[in-house]
Amino acid sequence: MGYKVVVVGATGNVGREMLNILDERQFPIDEITVLASRKSLGTEVSFGEKTLTTLDLDTFDFTGWDIALFAVGSDATKKYAPKAAATGCVVIDNSSLYRYDPDVPLVVPEVNPEAVLGYSKKNIIANPNCSTAQMVVALKPLHDRARIKRVVVSTYQSVSGSGKDAIDELWNQTKGVYVPGQEVAPSVYPKQIAFNVIPHIDVFLDSGETKEEWKMVAETKKIIDPSIKVTATCVRVPVFVGHSESINIEFEDFLDEEEAREILREAPGIMVIDKREDGGYVTPVECVGDFATFISRIRQDSTIDNGLNLWCVSDNLRKGAALNAVQIAETLGARVLKKG
Ligand SMILES: NC(=O)c1ccc[n+]([C@@H]2O[C@H](COP(=O)([O-])OP(=O)(O)OC[C@H]3O[C@@H](n4cnc5c(N)ncnc54)[C@H](OP(=O)(O)O)[C@@H]3O)[C@@H](O)[C@H]2O)c1
Repeated sequence: MGYKVVVVGATGNVGREMLNILDERQFPIDEITVLASRKSLGTEVSFGEKTLTTLDLDTFDFTGWDIALFAVGSDATKKYAPKAAATGCVVIDNSSLYRYDPDVPLVVPEVNPEAVLGYSKKNIIANPNCSTAQMVVALKPLHDRARIKRVVVSTYQSVSGSGKDAIDELWNQTKGVYVPGQEVAPSVYPKQIAFNVIPHIDVFLDSGETKEEWKMVAETKKIIDPSIKVTATCVRVPVFVGHSESINIEFEDFLDEEEAREILREAPGIMVIDKREDGGYVTPVECVGDFATFISRIRQDSTIDNGLNLWCVSDNLRKGAALNAVQIAETLGARVLKKG
């Protein structure tokens, strides 16, 4: 016996990827339906060999459905997720709306799977920000061995992290640069993204950091350990899919780079590709469509007593969103719902 599953935001980047992953991982499904806004009513989306027709979220009744995977923005989530949860359907949400709510667990199954048990207060589980998800997968096994004191991270985030309009903007701007008269003005981003990098993701806070940077700090604390200090600089780069991160870690105890490499090789969800030669590391182009969080360039930071540097790359639409959401559903199924 399987689950009755609703994919909300099925016409978007994350929604489509959720359908791929539910199929690839053969999530036990008895019935599935797909929702988006009214303007997408009747739009067809693929689910394995099948084609599903999109219904209108606004008029949908969640009664009798087991799990709703939400991948719409925070505004639509605010309006519809509580309605879905009130019917008894468990909402697994990709937006940032519930991530910092003490009554909603924030879960990365490789890191804090036991947290799903807290779902019942609101019938909602939150998925972290894409940059946080891949980073905590890398940090957790190292923290368990040598206790992390402080993390300095710089991100190189792809445009698919900003939704389907951002993908179009990079594509059209890139073409437009070469064709006189067809230049495309910035619309999703505040400056040109083609052939450029933008040190600004989400809104600015009074502190001078951006909300994206703040999210990495707050979410790492909630998922792994509130004592870990994190400082982040989040940058948008002209890559379609795949987020990269340069991570500097300071530990309480000494951790040799060889031991760190072995720990990461054994850790769930991680693939270490780390040869000290030309091309012996992973770049975003190579991670697209993969489940893993890739770690390369593991090396001692000799400027502090107990420091390491590493390079972390993952498919942001997968580990950063759709895959993590499906893994949460799998964890919830195995530990709580027990139908599959
Ligand atoms: N992309 C990432 O790497 C990533 C990572 C983590 C979290 N997230 C979060 O996941 C969510 C979806 O992101 P995305 O990249 O998939 O965005 P997207 O490509 O722009 O897709 C948005 C989806 O939401 C639907 N939608 C928007 N407003 C709606 C409304 N009022 N009623 C019903 N449906 C509505 C859209 O339907 P229509 O096509 O009908 O407009 C579409 O299916 C966002 O909250 C985002 O922050 C994204």
